[in-house]
Amino acid sequence: MPSETDIPRRITELGEWFHNINLAGHQTAPHHFLGDYPSIKWQRFADAIPSDLRGRTVLDIGCNGGFYSIEMKRRGADRVLGVDWDERYLSQARFAAEISGVDVEFRRLSVYDVATLRERFDVVLFMGVLYHLRHPLLALDLLHEHVTRDLLVFQSMQRGADTVLPLEPDYPFSETGIFDDPGYPRLHFVERRYSQDQTNWWIPNRAAAEAMLRSAGYAIVAHPEPEVFVCRHVAIPDDEPRAVYPAHR
Ligand SMILES: C[S@@+](CC[C@H](N)C(=O)[O-])C[C@H]1O[C@@H](n2cnc3c(N)ncnc32)[C@H](O)[C@@H]1O
Repeated sequence: MPSETDIPRRITELGEWFHNINLAGHQTAPHHFLGDYPSIKWQRFADAIPSDLRGRTVLDIGCNGGFYSIEMKRRGADRVLGVDWDERYLSQARFAAEISGVDVEFRRLSVYDVATLRERFDVVLFMGVLYHLRHPLLALDLLHEHVTRDLLVFQSMQRGADTVLPLEPDYPFSETGIFDDPGYPRLHFVERRYSQDQTNWWIPNRAAAEAMLRSAGYAIVAHPEPEVFVCRHVAIPDDEPRAVYPAHR
């Protein structure tokens, strides 16, 4: 355990943080552009997921600096695995967990490779990752097929309308106007950049976020704040194969 005076030095050495975490009185990202993030987000949906996670396992995909992984362990989860593609964030997460005194495993893994875990988790967090992916539906399909057992806690940046158009099961070829309705599910493709971040690719409106979750086999059971959906793993709504790539390992 680093000494009290080493903590600010280590925070700086670990590079720029996206997660603002209080480590023994030292903030890791005190000037975050979203404020005290993700604490302010967490406070808005913390009551929507079980307060006692004893006996359950948690997978935190795109765990970043470990904020949510640490909170899940604090709720008593038997095991928490945080995965991320970026080694810098994983080093931050390991340090944050160590200083916070919680036992969390962090591993480098892309969401596209979750099948290699060969394990299902009672709770899967998929927060703030979807819009960073070039293949967002593939990721949701892979989570359904390989790692979610019960709950999926999902968050995405959303842009466009917040209204949700009730949809018919089918429309004739001649129906074209519906695609102009702001409440129709819509993914906005970012060819260049959005918010100075070249890893933003597909930004859903609310209707698309909900429709993609349902289509991947997730029933939305709570919507505690605009960007967060708590979902249950259910059967996919038809018999069309979903996670067809990569092939089963
Ligand atoms: C906006 S941050 C969200 C962090 C955290 N989940 C939260 O909600 O505060 C996106 C995270 O997803 C990670 N990420 C991006 N693409 C990924 C991928 N293909 N597999 C796993 N993690 C990925 C990034 O490295 C980053 O840590």
